[in-house]
Amino acid sequence: MSKATNITWHEAAISKAERRSRNGHGSCVLWFTGLSGSGKSTIANAFSSFLFQEGISEYVLDGDNVRHGLNKDLGFSDEDRTENIRRIGEVAKLFVDSGKIVTTAFISPFRSDRDQVRSLFEEGEFIEVFVDCPIEECERRDPKKLYAKARRGEIKDFTGIDSPYEAPVKPEITIHSNSLSVEESVKQIAEDLKNRGIL
Ligand code: ADX
Repeated sequence: MSKATNITWHEAAISKAERRSRNGHGSCVLWFTGLSGSGKSTIANAFSSFLFQEGISEYVLDGDNVRHGLNKDLGFSDEDRTENIRRIGEVAKLFVDSGKIVTTAFISPFRSDRDQVRSLFEEGEFIEVFVDCPIEECERRDPKKLYAKARRGEIKDFTGIDSPYEAPVKPEITIHSNSLSVEESVKQIAEDLKNRGIL
């Protein structure tokens, strides 16, 4: 529900189709989801570098970074995570409208939140990328030493420990990040986008 009243929607002078046509490629959101330490940010950034080198208009929205700014008022309760994902979904929609390929790297642990974001987009624009990595491996990597803190009880509501992660049921892409290299993961996503006619 919108709080504001007396607001009207203005059609933009330049359409999404015109922006895509000038760019010479489609626009979409690659919505990465997976546990902390699964490799979302690493693969998302590697994919963004690949796109940039190919001359494609792209941008990455990354969990930890967005929580320093736009979403710095939010924590990790279920409600705050839902609001985090809702805002990112709206921002991603603006990027898709601007003609870019936007990659988002958030745990986004709740299926209903991801489905809600999907519903903002037109058919084919929302591509869910499940970075599938066993929690044992994420915990072994523990790049930010957060699993160790969560095990010691120093962080509450940590995803996979005392807060749930709901894996996607039918993601467009699944990356097995414990058996694929970053380069192989980038290749897999690029192939998929070519097959979809976006690249
Ligand atoms: S989400 O659940 O709302 O999608 P988001 O991706 O923005 O999470 O942020 C996750 C990042 O915040 C993790 O990679 C980790 O660095 C950090 N973090 C800090 N506390 C937590 C927590 N309780 N659960 C998960 N991640 C946490």
